[in-house]
Formats: sequence, structure tokens, C-alpha cells
Amino acid sequence: MKRVLIATEKPFASSAISQIADLLHKAGYSLNLLEKYSSKNELLDAASEVDALIVRSDQVDRELLDAAAKLKIVVRAGAGYDNVDTAYAKEKSVVVMNTPGQNSNAVAELAIGLAIYGIREFFGGKSGGELRGRTLGLHGYGYVARNVHRIARALGMKVLTYTRFSKAQATSEGLQVTGSLEELYAQSDVVSIHVPARGIHLKSVSMAVLKQLKKNAIIINTARKEVIDEEDLCAFMTQRDDVKYLSDLRPDCAAVFEEKFAGRYFFTPKKIGAQTQEANTNAGLAAARQIVAFFEEGDETFRVNK
Ligand code: 3PG
Repeated sequence: MKRVLIATEKPFASSAISQIADLLHKAGYSLNLLEKYSSKNELLDAASEVDALIVRSDQVDRELLDAAAKLKIVVRAGAGYDNVDTAYAKEKSVVVMNTPGQNSNAVAELAIGLAIYGIREFFGGKSGGELRGRTLGLHGYGYVARNVHRIARALGMKVLTYTRFSKAQATSEGLQVTGSLEELYAQSDVVSIHVPARGIHLKSVSMAVLKQLKKNAIIINTARKEVIDEEDLCAFMTQRDDVKYLSDLRPDCAAVFEEKFAGRYFFTPKKIGAQTQEANTNAGLAAARQIVAFFEEGDETFRVNK
């Protein structure tokens, strides 16, 4: 019998867990659950005998991969897999997958929610603005950005994107693709960031890009803090007291925001973009299905460490 462990420091909704358990039990697999664990040792112990692991933003590092001697597959129930040491997993012949698109609507709704919160002056009573008629720049055009696009159009926004890898998709959906990231930031009233924390995207929101922003621009980050050059962001927000930054990721330099940028920033207390019952169910079930398909049929469709 294959043993599956769900190890999530940030738990799934209970209805998602019961559906995942159902799916795995029907396939003849066992399921162990480790939620809100407080020490690494708990995780190392729980993983020691399992064949498959489902995680969210939980760190899957060398120590864990070494401790999980029987592990064959890790599925990150979500999009970004920057929390998994994919190269070391490959060295150990452990397949790593993600579940692209499964939680993207939840993150997109949060991005739009943050944009409304920002433009309405944090619901504090000060006269704000409206999104209708304003330009939204999508930095990246993956699954989350596509959902943001759909919602923003319904709100009457003009939407632009800068993407290297999804140009055909964007143009087929009637989107204008700017020639550079600088151009995107220069033309947008609201910028929403939707790129992963790897490669060219790391620190891609730098001073060269930020200084293009229009007066009263709003930056929304539901992606990762690593895609922002935080030193540049703080320097820029010091120079430009009209700009706001709202994020689902608390930056490392949060103390600078607290000290200097009062009334111009907001951070969720914990990353909550994908924290909905629907996203938990979709991503969790997809992860369980992918594990069964991998063991039963050798299916590696969503593998990210080939
Ligand atoms: C993702 O990469 O899928 C999102 O950032 C959600 O992450 P989470 O599962 O930690 O909420």
C-alpha cells in the first residue's frame, strides 16, 4: 500500500481534506496528515516512511529529502515551487510536480481585492478613486494573471501585460503586450505582479522599472517577495510619496514601511492568496490525482524537475 503524507504548516480546509482522503482511499492508498507542525523534527519524522508527499509553501529541503528514504514524489499543491529543492530531489530520483492553475482564481480575487482596498484609501473614509477606466498592468501572464484580466475587464479597466513566455496567449485574448517591463510600469495606474520567484524574475521589480510609474500608482504583489528588489522599492517609496504597495507577502524590510510609509502600504498577516475552500479542494485533489496517476500509469505530466 502506498503511503501519502500531507504536510502543511498552513492547513487545507477540512472539506478539502476529506475529499482528498476519499480519493486516495479509493485508490487503495493510506493518508497521514501533519498540519500546523511547530518543529522541523515533526516533519522529518512524519516523512520518514512515506512514498508521496503533498505540501504547500512548506520547505522541502535536502534534510527532508534525505530523511524521507522511501519518497518517490512530492507534489506542491499550488503553483510556485520555489520552496522545493528540485535539483536535489532529481539527484535523489524524486519527482517534483506542481498543480498549475488550480488555485489561481483565489489569488486573482485577492489581487483585485487589494487593488480596490488601495484605490479606496484602505477604507478609511478619505476620498479615493475607482478602478473603472484605469489601466491595469499585468507583470507576467500565467494562470493567476489571466483570471485577474477576466475580472478587471468586467470592472471596466484597460488591461496591458508584459510577458516573455505567454505572448501568444495574451494576444489571442485581445491583450496589448508592451515591448518592455519599463513600458508596462510607465503605462499602468495599477500594476499586479504575477511572475514566479526564479530566473530572470528575481528582483525584476527594480528602480529602473519602478521609476517609470505614473503619479498615484498602486503596486499589488500576490506573487513572491523575491521578485521585488526591496532596497530599490524602499528607496523609490521614499522619493515618491504618492505610490502605494499592497502585498500578500510581508517584505523583509517591513520595519522600513512601518516607520516611513504609513498610509501607503498593506501586508496580509500571512500569505492568504490561495486560502479558500475552493482553491484548497482544487489544488489538493489535483495533487492526490497526480500522485495516483504517477504510481499507477507513470504519468509525469506536471513534473517540474525533469
Ligand atoms: C502558490 O504558489 O500556489 C501560491 O502562492 C499559494 O501558496 P500557498 O499554498 O502557500 O497558500
